[in-house]
Amino acid sequence: MASVNNISKDRKGLFITLEGGEGVGKSTQSRLLAETLEKSGFKVYLTREPGGTKGAEQLRELLLFGGANFSCYSEILLHMAARLDHVEKMIRPALAEGKIVICDRYHDSTLAYQGFGIKGGDKDALALIETLRCFINCEADATFWLDMALEKTQERLSKRGNPKDCYERQEISFHERVKQGFERIYQAEPKRIIPIDASPCEEDVQEQIYHHVKALLVRKKM
Ligand code: TMP
Repeated sequence: MASVNNISKDRKGLFITLEGGEGVGKSTQSRLLAETLEKSGFKVYLTREPGGTKGAEQLRELLLFGGANFSCYSEILLHMAARLDHVEKMIRPALAEGKIVICDRYHDSTLAYQGFGIKGGDKDALALIETLRCFINCEADATFWLDMALEKTQERLSKRGNPKDCYERQEISFHERVKQGFERIYQAEPKRIIPIDASPCEEDVQEQIYHHVKALLVRKKM
């Protein structure tokens, strides 16, 4: 399938994504990484998925809290619609301007949650996601996969006060499939994906991530 854009031609910046299951600390680490890079003088666009544009944030609300119980294929299309809006309006322009884009979740979450968590690795579901991924054609330069034991993340989540979204409310077997899904995605793309042990304290995890980012910046001559 033809893609809507060829991002590599006008990409001056760096695209970093953070991935993982619930409660592994992605959002905190995304924020800490953005703050560190900004302090070093880089221009950073910190964002999240689903979200990042008005329409994508509206789709986020619908997907996470709308209670609509979409069929899985519709759910994939809605996540991808949110992503395309985000890529076209925000991510691609930021990369063209030379910014470092840090995105809390991206394609791997669709593969892990919809492809593996809901559809148990079903070939057709994975193929649909990959086709749409090719169409969007905007790949991360590096992805940090934050991983830790499910017992620990479940404990963290139970302490959080905010209302649980529809994915957080799923039973433990769903989260196990998502975790195994991330493992499979990593095995398929070990060059792009960097596994991070998310169980140590915030500062240690931050250091692990920053160590890799510094090497990446040198490689990209930024
Ligand atoms: P979070 O921002 O707290 O991680 O919430 C986003 C939720 O949306 C999380 O449970 C994972 C889920 N999600 C998907 O199921 N598919 C996707 O493609 C994306 C980006 C997120």
